[in-house]
Amino acid sequence: MELTQVANGIWKMRIGTPEQHTPVALRAFPMREEALEKLAPAELPGQAGQITCRQNRRGLQITLPMDSSEDIYGFGLQLKSMNQAGRKRMLRVNSDPVADTGEGHAPVPFYVSTGGYGLFLDTFRHVEVYMGTSLEKGRSEQRREVNQVHKEFSESALYALKKNSEVRRVIIDLKAVDGVDLYLFAGSVKEAVQRYNLFSGGGCLPPMWGLGVWYRSYGGSDQKSVENLAEGFRREEMPVDVLGMEPGWHSHSYSCTYQWSYLFPDPETMIEKVSRQDYKINLWEHVFVYPAAPFYQELQPYAGEYEVWNGLVPDFCMPEAGKIFADYHREEFVKKGIAGFKLDECDNSDLNASNWSFPDVTQFPSGMDGEQMHAAIGGLYQNLIYDVFRQENRRTYSQVRSSGALAAPMPFVLYSDLYQHKQFIRGMVTAGFSGLLWAPEVRDCKNGADLLRRMETIMFSTHAIYNCWRIPNPPWKQVDIAKNLAGEFMEDADYYTDVCRRYHRVRMSLLPYLYSAFVKYQWEGIPPVRALVFDYEEEPEVRNVDDEYLLGDDLLVAPMTLEDGTERKVYLPWGTWHGFWDDAVYEGGREHVIHAEYDRIPVFVRENCILPLADPVEAVGKDTVFTIRPRVYGNGGEGCVLYEDDFETFDYEKGCQNEVRITRKGDGELEVCRMGEARRRYVIAGRE
Ligand code: GAL
Repeated sequence: MELTQVANGIWKMRIGTPEQHTPVALRAFPMREEALEKLAPAELPGQAGQITCRQNRRGLQITLPMDSSEDIYGFGLQLKSMNQAGRKRMLRVNSDPVADTGEGHAPVPFYVSTGGYGLFLDTFRHVEVYMGTSLEKGRSEQRREVNQVHKEFSESALYALKKNSEVRRVIIDLKAVDGVDLYLFAGSVKEAVQRYNLFSGGGCLPPMWGLGVWYRSYGGSDQKSVENLAEGFRREEMPVDVLGMEPGWHSHSYSCTYQWSYLFPDPETMIEKVSRQDYKINLWEHVFVYPAAPFYQELQPYAGEYEVWNGLVPDFCMPEAGKIFADYHREEFVKKGIAGFKLDECDNSDLNASNWSFPDVTQFPSGMDGEQMHAAIGGLYQNLIYDVFRQENRRTYSQVRSSGALAAPMPFVLYSDLYQHKQFIRGMVTAGFSGLLWAPEVRDCKNGADLLRRMETIMFSTHAIYNCWRIPNPPWKQVDIAKNLAGEFMEDADYYTDVCRRYHRVRMSLLPYLYSAFVKYQWEGIPPVRALVFDYEEEPEVRNVDDEYLLGDDLLVAPMTLEDGTERKVYLPWGTWHGFWDDAVYEGGREHVIHAEYDRIPVFVRENCILPLADPVEAVGKDTVFTIRPRVYGNGGEGCVLYEDDFETFDYEKGCQNEVRITRKGDGELEVCRMGEARRRYVIAGRE
């Protein structure tokens, strides 16, 4: 084992001889060294000296100490649990895991412990990690308690996780490798995650339009119906920024041709028409290349051994494959105005009868095997698409169904078909521990109340998206799929339309605030959506809160589901909190029972801050200037900072960005201080 310091608060431990293809070896973004230097200097975590490693025919077994008070978070997107202490995680890409095994769309071999460190294992292999599940032989030798009365006879009581008082171990079980690099990140949960994100290259900064409302249209849409939908939203004053096209736009979609079908006789005119109304278009696709695709022959030498849905699986680790795919996307779509893609099915599903994707034993021309490729393909695909936009000096905000290590710089949001609202909320909370973004999409809804609850959640997330690929009319007109298909609307469609419109407007008013949260993600590595434990690690009550989260600096969101009805418990951390919708004041450091009608999501604002809410616009256009109406809470604290730039290119990296700081002076007046020479995009109401 060889230990080297990589940056302030980050160390690499090399064990044996690592493999050739790893996340760090294939990284596309450099580490943000300067930002890391700005963090408080950190010492090597004490655990480092206690790491053991054993190598045998099974592979590598690495252990670290873990004490009884440690809580563990991370491992990528985990929909079924948040605190991983006491659990085993099996990190393997699987789009439809049935149990809480650790598998999922985006497993990441990174975790963070309240014991003061984070750990990243630089591998694409399946990893199994035991987070303090077992004691070593002899640890229990002194136990003598006998004849303890059993109070409850049930399986749950029998197997209930007993909080143990002994030191346990983290065991990392990595098979069939001769070595691996292990990275240690020092600090609290927040600092260790920050370091991991900055090591990854810093968080992404989406274009402003990406933060608006998204609407994925019906899979069977034709050109006219998409144009009508676009017009309809504007006519009904329903703010929407992005229109998504589902598989029906391809002339063949499973696998893909990447060519418009007969339903879209003149896509260029459609793109031009909707662009004039300030919409952006996002295209659904996946990587599996159908024989009728124009670049099939060219790609063949650079594809893996097995097909998926009759299509080639490109080896994106080969620059040739990436170039063929990228050149085509650039010329055919990006240059013609397409603003992003939905990279579907780049995960894996191999345990059911409708098994799809390539086997783990697949050989790829680059030398990677299928097991590695499953963990890598989502990231490689994102890099490739990101690069196409980058070369055009345009930012994208896109979707992807699988991701993995070092993903923070990628402006791609994860989503899923597993459609459990509570799990979707948890997804937001867990994704933030590993540099991922997650969309709690609205799709099918049981009834109007379900629609409202799900819709409220997306509006207070990092991706406000309706995925209406199964319904031709908006869900606020009809939630029942059969009736929607038949064009039959709900009796109270007007009511649901009004509530949704109200929330679309709230979303638009949050855009500048959210944009600032992303700037922070990029430069400081602090995720825009965070579990409470990030900011309040010392409060034991927050350690297991997986259904509330912080959004940006000053909002705490506690979404509700249909099952919650109109009441839920909300834990508010220390300090004073204000209701976002009214003047209510709440004392923190305890739980509150909150009553909220179906059209109200509980949202709280931290005491002593300024919330820069904007007057809502229908969509973000090239020349949009937001009018900001700052809301002052308490004494305004340090105020707020907004960022002005063109909202869509990379010029901000060259300094074309203003920092606009709004603070409250002693006399109660607001002060606006603007630094930078870039174009003005905000007018502060009453001040300018
Ligand atoms: C699924 C995807 C859905 C939708 C559908 C279309 O795989 O998760 O969001 O796009 O494909 O076939």
